[in-house]
Amino acid sequence: MNATFDFAGKTLLITGATGGIGRQTAELFHRSGANVILMDLDADRLESMRSEMAMRVVAVAGDASANEPIQTALRLGAESFGGGLDFVVPAAGIYPESSILDTGEELWRKVMSVNLDGVYRLLHAAIPHMNDGGSIVNFASVAGHRGSKNHGHYAASKGAILALTRSLAHELGPKLRVNAVSPGTIRTPMVESLVAARGSAMLSETPLARYGEATEVASVVAFLCSDAASFITGEALHVNGGLFMAG
Ligand SMILES: NC(=O)c1ccc[n+]([C@@H]2O[C@H](COP(=O)([O-])OP(=O)(O)OC[C@H]3O[C@@H](n4cnc5c(N)ncnc54)[C@H](O)[C@@H]3O)[C@@H](O)[C@H]2O)c1
Repeated sequence: MNATFDFAGKTLLITGATGGIGRQTAELFHRSGANVILMDLDADRLESMRSEMAMRVVAVAGDASANEPIQTALRLGAESFGGGLDFVVPAAGIYPESSILDTGEELWRKVMSVNLDGVYRLLHAAIPHMNDGGSIVNFASVAGHRGSKNHGHYAASKGAILALTRSLAHELGPKLRVNAVSPGTIRTPMVESLVAARGSAMLSETPLARYGEATEVASVVAFLCSDAASFITGEALHVNGGLFMAG
């Protein structure tokens, strides 16, 4: 996919930056001229991305749902690039499989902590640093719209992200636009076991008859951040090959 955008002079803050979708998104924005502030738990993958990008990049390894690494990322970004933030994309997420009866308090809290509390903490800290005309793109999921067997915690966290997205679109307009993407099944490490267990059933329900690629989500995030989406806010864009069609 060779989608291109003009993000020269703009700055992106992205979490989950070394993951399947996060990496493709960060690389697309960087290729399109943006400065990028990368956050991820995986220090080795982060360092290899940072050194490959070489310029217009800072990286912070740590828990993107905790206040301290978020503050470090904001400080490093301001020192390196100045000029505030234009795009904030909280892409970090976890997707453990667990029925409701097997989901104890600890797992429930863990999923909420990364997928929902972490988004709140990142946005709460980052929004005051965002420039007029900036854009937030949250990661929801098809699970947040139609539920997901043995992933009730995950689906609940993503449903909450959809509600948060719409609320912030009301609250932050006209200065900022706030949208979400709702991927279906995208080939990344997150869904390897799901694809192994239920892949053929999912494919038979997918009009485009394949899984999505991370690049196909990255380009939608970039579209939502670009001037081409200048009148879109409070929206959740489905990227799922037709697996789920919203009414
Ligand atoms: N892949 C799919 O099919 C799919 C479908 C729907 C929604 N999504 C959403 O898209 C987003 C990206 O998913 P992906 O497929 O790229 O997943 P992935 O597992 O490939 O990447 C997730 C990344 O987040 C990082 N991470 C996890 N917890 C973190 C934390 N606390 N702090 C910092 N980094 C953390 C991981 O190290 C990893 O690099 C997620 O929010 C996910 O829920 C993915």
